[in-house]
Amino acid sequence: MGVDHVGVGVGDVDAAIEFYGRHVGFERLLFDYAGELPGLEAFAGRTPRGRVAMLENSGATPIGPGRVKLVQVLDGNGPPPVPEGQAWGEVGVCEICLHVRDVQEVYDALLAAGCESLMEPMSADVPPSGVALDIAYVADPWRTKLELIEWTGLWRSLPGPARAEGVNHVAFGVTDMARTRAFYERLGFTQLLFESFDFFDPMAPWYRPPWYEPSELPKQHMTMPMPAQGAAIEPVVLDPPGHDCRGEWGHLGPMDFGIRVSNIDAAVAELRAGGVEAHGEPQTIEVNGGEWRYVAFAEPDGNYVSLVEARY
Ligand SMILES: [Fe+2]
Repeated sequence: MGVDHVGVGVGDVDAAIEFYGRHVGFERLLFDYAGELPGLEAFAGRTPRGRVAMLENSGATPIGPGRVKLVQVLDGNGPPPVPEGQAWGEVGVCEICLHVRDVQEVYDALLAAGCESLMEPMSADVPPSGVALDIAYVADPWRTKLELIEWTGLWRSLPGPARAEGVNHVAFGVTDMARTRAFYERLGFTQLLFESFDFFDPMAPWYRPPWYEPSELPKQHMTMPMPAQGAAIEPVVLDPPGHDCRGEWGHLGPMDFGIRVSNIDAAVAELRAGGVEAHGEPQTIEVNGGEWRYVAFAEPDGNYVSLVEARY
């Protein structure tokens, strides 16, 4: 059922709720939980304590349905820092992409709200089907890369004013595209929206010394496998490979994501039957009179991914 949410580490959940609600349209607070987060030992090296707020965009449509999960680590030394030297496409989660109605207008509004421009609005189309899109990038106040996309060559939007909608896809780095595609195909990401082998030149300024030599940028191989419903994934392979930017679980910036399932117990049984390691049994956390159910599992590059059954 696609990507349920992207998890972003923040230093102050209240400030992030305010920013994402007021400026990015994620004004529905589905739950706000503080406490132990069992089941994440394989990612965090302990049972972390944290505050987690799940936000939904009230303008979410089938092409931008995903949510944002704000995570503030409360134990240890607090939130770990952003992994150093991340440009885009190293192993680890590297962006949140929001579907928007009117990229230019939303981009202007986010700049006015204090975001920094990372890529000015432009139009493009992507191979092999020539699907058209408008695209821009900003950094939120905590440096998370927010991609703004309007898939003008697909189903566009509901009518209405310019606005950010929900999460359209999450990008993350991997090391072997064929292995990653086969893995996520079993989780429902079966339809290839695009595949590109070219370096996307507007991203060149993101690749900086000492991590990168500007005259020798890596090749980028990107794909976007979509599920029949729900938000998509955008795995990226850099050649030569970048360094590992997963960082510690809970670090500031985009750091994990969840895939939505309707029955987590059945989904875990299916994963295990397919030889995928689930990290323990599904956890159930009571939130707002409902239940947040999740289980972390091992994906091929060790990115922090879980299944989520949202009963809230
Ligand atoms: Fe993207």
